[in-house]
Amino acid sequence: MRIFIIVGHKATTEPSFSLEDIPGTSGRLDILCRSVTSAFVLSHGIRKDVLAYLVLLGGENPKTIQLVGESLRHLNPDERSTAALLKKALAVEAAPGWSMSTPGIFVRSGGLPRLLEDLRQRSVRLIYLKEDGKDFRCLRDELLGEEMAFVLGDHSGMTAEEETLLASAGAEVVALGPTSLHADHCIVVTNWLLDSKAFMSGCL
Ligand SMILES: C[S@@+](CC[C@H](N)C(=O)[O-])C[C@H]1O[C@@H](n2cnc3c(N)ncnc32)[C@H](O)[C@@H]1O
Repeated sequence: MRIFIIVGHKATTEPSFSLEDIPGTSGRLDILCRSVTSAFVLSHGIRKDVLAYLVLLGGENPKTIQLVGESLRHLNPDERSTAALLKKALAVEAAPGWSMSTPGIFVRSGGLPRLLEDLRQRSVRLIYLKEDGKDFRCLRDELLGEEMAFVLGDHSGMTAEEETLLASAGAEVVALGPTSLHADHCIVVTNWLLDSKAFMSGCL
């Protein structure tokens, strides 16, 4: 299972944003929509072995949306229809437990600390993707057989407090090179590397 966690620091927790102006009315939920597309959408298919968590911090109380590739339905490649699915999820009352919105999409209250604690209990290995981390290829020999969660920031990166939280949760800091990329592009590259037989066998 591949897990992607994307933190939206200004991303709305309310369904009242406009689908006609997603970036301007939702606290940059467009970044998270594109990340969802990169995590799941294949040419004519959905990756079943992916889980994604969108941590939405732009409201009074944080919410987390979970997308489960195995049961995900109605996800199309365009940003607008993904935003519409997230809008539906935000209209569901968020309680401490997961509530389903549409097939494969769940919402609950709580943010990053709670999510990291869940992953710790499941013994998931945490990888914080950051430009100045160690080279991604250092992970290669250790990748097989591990459940890994890749954590990414939005346009503002991650805060110092979040980095401290990630470090205390045991996250390794890993880079896809020194150039700062968009979060959704990092997800495409990560999926590509993990798909690549050449990478996994050490030829890349
Ligand atoms: C647009 S970047 C954030 C840039 C932001 N200006 C900053 O200073 O952190 C969004 C996220 O993508 C990930 N990212 C971007 N480039 C990366 C790279 N070369 N290697 C690993 N992760 C990267 C990081 O998680 C980052 O928080």
